[in-house]
Amino acid sequence: MDYKKYIAQRINAEGVGEEEVYASIALPPNPDMGDYALPCFKFAKVMRKSPALIAQALAAGYPSDGVIEKAEAVNGYVNFTINKAALAREVIGEVLSAGEKYGSSDIGAGKTVCLDYSSVNIAKPFHIGHLSTTAIGGALYKIFNFLGYKAVGINHLGDYGTQFGKLICAYKHWGDRQQVEEGGIHAINDLYVRFNSEATEEMEHEAREYFRLIESGDKEANELFDWFKELTLKYVRGIYDKLNVTFDSYAGERFYTDKMQPVIDELREKGLLKESEGAQVVDLEKYGMPPCLILRSDGASLYATRDLAAAIYRKDTYDFYKCLYVVAYQQNLHFKQVFKVLELMGKEWAKDLVHVAYGMVSLEDGAMSTRKGKVVWLEDVISRCVEKAYAIISEKNPELENKRDVAEKVGVGAVIFGALYNSKIKDIVFSYDKVLSFEGETSVYVQYTCARANSVMEKGGVPAEYKVGELLPQEAEVVKAIASFPQAVKDAAEKYEPCMVARFAVDLAQKFNKFYFDCKILTAEGDKKNFRLALTAAAHTALKNALTLLGIGVPDKM
Ligand code: ARG
Repeated sequence: MDYKKYIAQRINAEGVGEEEVYASIALPPNPDMGDYALPCFKFAKVMRKSPALIAQALAAGYPSDGVIEKAEAVNGYVNFTINKAALAREVIGEVLSAGEKYGSSDIGAGKTVCLDYSSVNIAKPFHIGHLSTTAIGGALYKIFNFLGYKAVGINHLGDYGTQFGKLICAYKHWGDRQQVEEGGIHAINDLYVRFNSEATEEMEHEAREYFRLIESGDKEANELFDWFKELTLKYVRGIYDKLNVTFDSYAGERFYTDKMQPVIDELREKGLLKESEGAQVVDLEKYGMPPCLILRSDGASLYATRDLAAAIYRKDTYDFYKCLYVVAYQQNLHFKQVFKVLELMGKEWAKDLVHVAYGMVSLEDGAMSTRKGKVVWLEDVISRCVEKAYAIISEKNPELENKRDVAEKVGVGAVIFGALYNSKIKDIVFSYDKVLSFEGETSVYVQYTCARANSVMEKGGVPAEYKVGELLPQEAEVVKAIASFPQAVKDAAEKYEPCMVARFAVDLAQKFNKFYFDCKILTAEGDKKNFRLALTAAAHTALKNALTLLGIGVPDKM
């Protein structure tokens, strides 16, 4: 239930519209003051009274009913206290009947949202820099589907460029079929790194020639390229499986090879192409941006050229409502340029393209990716987290069955949550100890809370019927937190911030734990016991749904 709306409809503030009242309603700084607060300062001008008098009049005139228990004026605010028993009845009933669908909606009405995320580069390491795009994109994908949109996950593979010429050249000089077959992406990366540090002038020349051969469809060069691509994909798919991330399309940059010419023709026809030092560019000076490079002086296309073709292709193929690019903020300018060029081409849907930018991830010891091989591979970060999780779990609960399975869920969850928990634009420093802390604002903490709730449910059962009486503050807080889940999911989609779901989970877990420690559940008397069991089950469902949306597994026991 949307309480703000409920209140706004019943407030009678002369000269102030319902919309404005709705927008003004806020959460009071602490729950003792009430559940919602309406500041009246902004209304003083229209209503020609002091905020304090307005608040008094509004509180006195508020109709009493079973939903809002109390409307009270305090220093220019009207504080509203909702009837917690009524809320509890409504929310718990809804959660227990909706189950894994609790929080979902059909507001998306089947509209298509394309999500370009992870988008790794073939033959290059899948390093920790790709963690955020993979975790954020993967979560947004699930969140949009949960809200009734049709999400299309696209991995815009970086499989185009001169580096493949270099790779083939390196392989020809130093490579060994079996070694590459066995070593996969690591062997390929070694070759690439070696080329960057040891290649002679002559090899550089050869590499350019190999790249040209790939482009012109040479059989051998393309076979090698396909092989490298296949090995890379096999490897990244393994990581996606671990992270519970899926894609509907792996159409990468190369896919647009034959789709760029029509775009270039259209740009030319529309008078947008301009020559600059032999290259073809779209001038964006008027918009305060450097020119967008379309063709180099040697006729080669660029990253932006392929993104133009890709956007047009996606619009034609999926007729998206929105197309999101979950890509690091280093590419801010690139996307601004691409979106602007599409707008200048007269694509009215250019406004539906969104760059969902996020910050950098680095490790505590300062290591990040560098060109020359000092790379932190994501798989190593994941395995280290899983190993650490295993050690912690074994120590905490040596008797636990399926320790491996639990450690996997905890370790992987910590990696995902670590990348998600902060608002996405912040740079984050990844710390193993922090993400695996049972006490902090972590996925482990939430998972552990789920296991705790689950164990209560196993012992006490989930009652089919329960009576809701007067609520203790600890119970009311849990109810309110559970009730906020649907809005958190909508906010996450609207702001492209999965962290809102993560924060919801931590908040509910904290409130549930307070309830768990302060109130007896299994030994409660009479009606209270059943009510508390039902509340526990509802909290468990809401927490589980939240973690699932983030791609995080929920162990039954921990
Ligand atoms: N492969 C690129 C990188 O890792 C990201 C591609 C993002 N998507 C796009 N349509 N440009 O830097």
